[in-house]
Amino acid sequence: MRVLVTGANGLLGQKLCELLDHEPEVTLIATSRGQQRVKLDNGSFRSLDVTQQGQVERLFDEVCPDVVIHTAAMTQVDQCETEREACWLNNVTAVGFVAAACERSQSHLIHLSTDFVFDGSEGPLDELALPNPISHYGSSKLAAEEKVKQLKTPWTIIRTVLVFGVTNDQSRSNIVLWVKNSLEAGKIIRVVSDQWRTPTLAEDLATGCWLAARKKATGIFHISGSEMMTPYDIALRTAEHFGLDKSLIQETNSKEFRQPAARPLKTGFIIEKAQRELGYRPHTFNEGLAIVAAQLT
Ligand SMILES: NC(=O)c1ccc[n+]([C@@H]2O[C@H](COP(=O)([O-])OP(=O)(O)OC[C@H]3O[C@@H](n4cnc5c(N)ncnc54)[C@H](OP(=O)(O)O)[C@@H]3O)[C@@H](O)[C@H]2O)c1
Repeated sequence: MRVLVTGANGLLGQKLCELLDHEPEVTLIATSRGQQRVKLDNGSFRSLDVTQQGQVERLFDEVCPDVVIHTAAMTQVDQCETEREACWLNNVTAVGFVAAACERSQSHLIHLSTDFVFDGSEGPLDELALPNPISHYGSSKLAAEEKVKQLKTPWTIIRTVLVFGVTNDQSRSNIVLWVKNSLEAGKIIRVVSDQWRTPTLAEDLATGCWLAARKKATGIFHISGSEMMTPYDIALRTAEHFGLDKSLIQETNSKEFRQPAARPLKTGFIIEKAQRELGYRPHTFNEGLAIVAAQLT
């Protein structure tokens, strides 16, 4: 099976490549913007900017992928709010290019989306919940989902929530690493306790994507961790795990802690469909922290 991964330098991209690089039945074509930062033993790396339609078409014609896992996106929610055109180009227009190329090469498109397509009025959410984004990032990811749903070849939309993990080049931060690094440096951090999420270990998400590819599962899947937690809980649990000073963590809320883009208050996912149809089994949050800790030493 020829699997093309976009955004291979990113957090999920790196974890997917780590997994697929050693799958005997997979020929991996890892792609990302710019130079290779992902480690590969067997697969090949090609530079690919998905906003360049010509580049996308030429590469697909050359490699004829059976499956495309599209992780590349502009993922910084506040940057998406302030740089709206760039956000739309990367998160919507480019998805149109990738989707069209999948149709031409008859590839199965597995597209990554987000809990930020929801407004946060209720959670946890299953695949039937109605999206209603409250940020430009969320709107762009929902518009991309609509493009994917138009495909006449098999498609899968995998939505996920607050991903954490360690990249091999430490180029990506996330809530767990931010808390750990800040507390180790003796910094006080303010963390909200009125938002709810089901944080996701990057390795689990990569496995979920691979299960969908292997089982040729189509439609929408919610893939995340299984524990509902606030960012404040996550910070406390991270501090406990790494033996750091919890008194540096100050509790705040979304009204006091203003950010350029609005965040949905309550999301988190019900993952029963992925458990039932894909055999998806995420680690507990504590197991995830132990995996992160082992990778950092
Ligand atoms: N992380 C989360 O908490 C989270 C939550 C919900 C959904 N998601 C979704 O999950 C997917 C993967 O997220 P992630 O955490 O792995 O993000 P990430 O670490 O930011 O990785 C995204 C990767 O995409 C690359 N990229 C961006 N624009 C590109 C372009 N035009 N052409 C080619 N590559 C491009 C980036 O390149 P550079 O390295 O050069 O910047 C980066 O390597 C995304 O679709 C995201 O929307 C993530």
